[in-house]
Amino acid sequence: MHCWSIILAAGSGTRLSSATNGVKKQFLEWKGAPLFWHSAITFSHTTRMRGLIFVFPEEDIEEATTTLKNLDFGRRLGLPWKVVSGGSRRQDSVYNGLQALPSQCTHVFVHDSARPFFSAKLANTLLDSLENENQAVIPAIPVTDTIKVAEANSISHTLDRSTLRACQTPQGFEKKLLVEVHERCREEGWEVTDDASIVEQAGQPVVFVDGEVTNSKITTPEDLTMIESKQISIPVPVTGWGYDVHSYGEGRPMKLGGIPIQGAPEVVAHSDGDVLLHALCDALLGCMGEGDIGEHFPDSSEEFDNISSGVLLNEVYDKFLKRGYRLTNVDLTIIAQVPRLVPWKPQIKKNICRMLKLNTDQVNVKATTEEKLGFTGEKKGIKAVAAVMALRS
Ligand code: CTP
Ligand code: MG
Repeated sequence: MHCWSIILAAGSGTRLSSATNGVKKQFLEWKGAPLFWHSAITFSHTTRMRGLIFVFPEEDIEEATTTLKNLDFGRRLGLPWKVVSGGSRRQDSVYNGLQALPSQCTHVFVHDSARPFFSAKLANTLLDSLENENQAVIPAIPVTDTIKVAEANSISHTLDRSTLRACQTPQGFEKKLLVEVHERCREEGWEVTDDASIVEQAGQPVVFVDGEVTNSKITTPEDLTMIESKQISIPVPVTGWGYDVHSYGEGRPMKLGGIPIQGAPEVVAHSDGDVLLHALCDALLGCMGEGDIGEHFPDSSEEFDNISSGVLLNEVYDKFLKRGYRLTNVDLTIIAQVPRLVPWKPQIKKNICRMLKLNTDQVNVKATTEEKLGFTGEKKGIKAVAAVMALRS
């Protein structure tokens, strides 16, 4: 099986436009990326998926392609992808996507980018079904409302709820079948709202697997609260790691975690040389994907000459909090042969708790020697490492 996915993002989002200032829903920002990107990421976590076709409105194609290239910087998706322009109806957009599939492709998923919440597990279940020789498979969930058929202003009759299913995307097909039925759909002028309907009208079987209640489609302004509330309700754990070294020599009186360490060797540094706070800053920057302390506070700059590392930490931590990260714990280790750090650990810990506004069970400060080995063992310098864990909302 060689399966590609067509990600549909060529609609105009008319039903939502009153709430988005005219921004088409597939381009709405959610968790730092446009909505259509989230489906691409989920497919990239589906190991049997071999490639993606993005379908964008003709007028947005250049801008959307640039956005995609930036998002996929470093080949983050790990999948080949192509971009094509959509048509006036959903089915026309799918048709254009089908034309772009590579010849070796045997199966295809069609997915609405307006459904960003589906899981890789669902995609895998659909793939399993295709591998079991089914030619068309869709996710469906039982209907919970009573559905009635309306005529003009009155109800004509009620449908038997036990036979009804609400259908979702992604929908999976054998490529040959889907191409054939789409050709027929064009010839015969059928109007459909999903691809399974075309297969059904062509008289071919469509099977279903359990869909996901959470796999809703963003359609009306009320649905926007789904993105907003999901944004708040699912914090993502992130980790960061930091490492720093300073050599001993004529320089600055040693400070660790903002505490002056009396009687300790001096450290060579541009700032105040607080090796522990530097490692901590790097760990926080690590959580945010923000590079390292040297990029933010270059040691070639006059501005940072002998600057207190507490000031640098405040600046980094301020950015961290403003971006919606919440620290859960900090684990720090100082590695030095001299000075002896046991007496200083409680004070250092207390000061870190104060600076980060954390409780004592959220901060750990450890110290170790390297058994007289290496540059710390030879008393030539000191190093520190920091591991932090945070929640990103
Ligand atoms: N779609 C598409 N090409 C079209 C119409 C729709 O690619 N000509 C895509 C949409 O971008 C969406 C999916 O098909 O991801 C489902 O369609 P729908 O929810 O109806 O989105 P829109 O057509 O954009 O919204 P509306 O009907 O409110 O205008
Ligand atoms: Mg539509």
